[in-house]
Amino acid sequence: MLASMETIDATASWIAIAAIVYRFETRSELARTHLSMTLIPGVDSREFEFTREDFDYLRRIVTETTGIVSSEDKYTMYYSRLARRLRALGLTDFKAYRDYLQRNPESESIELVNSVTTNLTSFFRENRHFEFLRGSFIDEVKARGNRRLRIWSAGCSTGEEPYSIAMSLAEAIPDYRSWDIKILASDLDSNVVAKAASGVYDEARVDGLDPQYLKKYFHRGTGSNDGFVRVKPEILNLITFRQLNLLHSWPFSDIMDCIFCRNVVIYFDKPTKNKLVERYAQQLVPNGYLFMGHSESLYKSTDSFKLLGKTIYQKVA
Ligand SMILES: C[S@@+](CC[C@H](N)C(=O)[O-])C[C@H]1O[C@@H](n2cnc3c(N)ncnc32)[C@H](O)[C@@H]1O
Repeated sequence: MLASMETIDATASWIAIAAIVYRFETRSELARTHLSMTLIPGVDSREFEFTREDFDYLRRIVTETTGIVSSEDKYTMYYSRLARRLRALGLTDFKAYRDYLQRNPESESIELVNSVTTNLTSFFRENRHFEFLRGSFIDEVKARGNRRLRIWSAGCSTGEEPYSIAMSLAEAIPDYRSWDIKILASDLDSNVVAKAASGVYDEARVDGLDPQYLKKYFHRGTGSNDGFVRVKPEILNLITFRQLNLLHSWPFSDIMDCIFCRNVVIYFDKPTKNKLVERYAQQLVPNGYLFMGHSESLYKSTDSFKLLGKTIYQKVA
C-alpha cells in the first residue's frame, strides 16, 4: 500500500554518503583498471580465464549491436560484469560463454549489452536543461498558443530523466492535464525500461529532490513498500516507455518538440553519432530542441543544429 507523501527526510547526509561511495567506487574501479593492465590476460588469478581475444570478441558484438565503442580500459569492467552472467548460466569459462552467445545470438546479445552498458542517471541531472524547459521553452509554446507537446527521452535509463521532464512540465503548466502531452521514454536495455516503467524508486534515489516535488509527485511506500517511493499516476501517465535501439528503425510517427539524448552518444564512434544526430533533426519540428549531455558536443558534427549554450541545441529551421 502506498500512502501520500507527507514528510520527507531531505537532509544532505544521503548526498554526502552517495558522494563518498561514488568516489570510493571510482577509485577502486581505477585501481582495478590499473591492476588489469599489469596482469597478463589468461594467466591472472581470476575466477574465469578472460583473454584479450574474449574481450575483443565481446566488445565487437557490443559495438555492432549498439554503436557503443568500448575502450581498452573497459577490460576489467567487462570481466567483472560478465563474470556474474557466467555464474548465473553455470558456465566455467569465457570460451563457453562465447559458444553460448553464438547459439543464442538474439537473447544473449541483449543480456551482454545490458551487462556492460552504463545506466548512470539521476533526477534533474544537469538541471539547467529542466530550467530551460520550465522557462524559455514553455513561454515560447504558450506564446504560440500551442497545447500539444511531444518530447522524447532517448536513452532514458531507469526513468529519472523522463520523470524529471514530466514534473518540469507539470510545474510550468498548471493546467497540464487539459493539454495533449506525450513523453516517449526509450532505452536499449530492457531491464532499465522495466524499472523505469514501474515508477518505483528506493528513497535514497530521491534524496536531494526538492521536498515540494516529492510531496506533489510521489507516493511514499508503507508496510512492505517502506523505503520506496512511487511516481504518482498523473505524472506516470504522461510517459510511454519502450525498449528501442537508437541505431535501428524508430517505429513511431510523432514529430518531437524536444529530444533529450544525454550521456548516450558519448559512447558512440563519430560516424554513428553524426548519423544519429541527423536522424534527430528529421524527427524534430522546425526550431525544435536537442539536449545533449554536459560533455557531449556537436561541434563540426552537423549543420542541422545551432548551439544555444549549456549543451542545448536548436534545429535550424
Ligand atoms: C548513462 S545513461 C544516460 C541516462 C540519461 N539520459 C541521463 O543522462 O541521465 C545511457 C543510456 O543510454 C542507453 N543506450 C546506449 N546505447 C543505446 C542505443 N544504441 N540505443 C538506445 N539506448 C542506448 C544505455 O542503455 C543507458 O541506459
